[in-house]
Amino acid sequence: MRISGKELSLKLKAELKEKVALLKKEAGRAPQLTVILVGNNPASVSYVTGKAKACEAVGIDNRTIRLDASTEEASLLGLIADLNADETVDGILVQLPLPPHIDENRVIDAIAKEKDVDGFHPLNVAALWQHRPCTVPCTPKGIIKLLKEAGEDIAGKRAVVVGRSNIVGLPVAKLLLDENATVTIAHSRTRNLGEVTREADILVVAVGRPGTITADMVKPGAVVIDVGVNRNSTTGKLCGDVDTEAVEAVARCITPVPGGVGPMTIACLMENTVEAFEAKLPR
Ligand code: GUN
Repeated sequence: MRISGKELSLKLKAELKEKVALLKKEAGRAPQLTVILVGNNPASVSYVTGKAKACEAVGIDNRTIRLDASTEEASLLGLIADLNADETVDGILVQLPLPPHIDENRVIDAIAKEKDVDGFHPLNVAALWQHRPCTVPCTPKGIIKLLKEAGEDIAGKRAVVVGRSNIVGLPVAKLLLDENATVTIAHSRTRNLGEVTREADILVVAVGRPGTITADMVKPGAVVIDVGVNRNSTTGKLCGDVDTEAVEAVARCITPVPGGVGPMTIACLMENTVEAFEAKLPR
């Protein structure tokens, strides 16, 4: 069985649309998301376009600021400072990766934590790891929603996360732990990866390498979440990190690529933007 992130994202966006309409009445304006794109990395351009479309579908005011790849770090930091001070801006997202001459950490640190709809600011990350109120990063948040949609009772299960990135691996491991899974994080230096992944009732794969998980590495009946977005070098088609067709025969369910995690990341970005707006309302 395939878990459709596309369908679930449509459901979430429909709910958010209703909520935004109510909030607009209450506050006199809609939530606002500003996305900054530096340069024109094709994958980033496509993500940013998807985010703008989702904002329109939900009724979130949005603006994409496109900057030249040669933009200096200081001017990007200046722009972020202006957006932080602008009360009509509720969410700020700087699309990553940034050109190599810009220090990503300095940029993330510059975003006001209340407007950090990615949940990448160190204060949001620390808050997540300490059970404090925070912005939950979009992809991990979407993954938990997908697992629940698949009817997975996470508590007590063995979860294996392959990949240890700041954006996906580490935060999704923490969210799975918060759902009372027993969590293992595997990575490029893990010995005998298949031995580890075969233990998983819930397998989350986020490494960015096609064919990382083959059918023999999956426990029969497992739920498999494929976070990878890769382009097949021969067909040019998008593919994940998992051999979807072979693994589908072994797993209870699996997320497809495209149409799995990707649309949920965007829907959760919409949710985070609405939450950032709501947090500002006098109630
Ligand atoms: N690049 C790839 N994924 C992401 C994401 O979730 N947020 C941002 N800002 N950049 C990304």
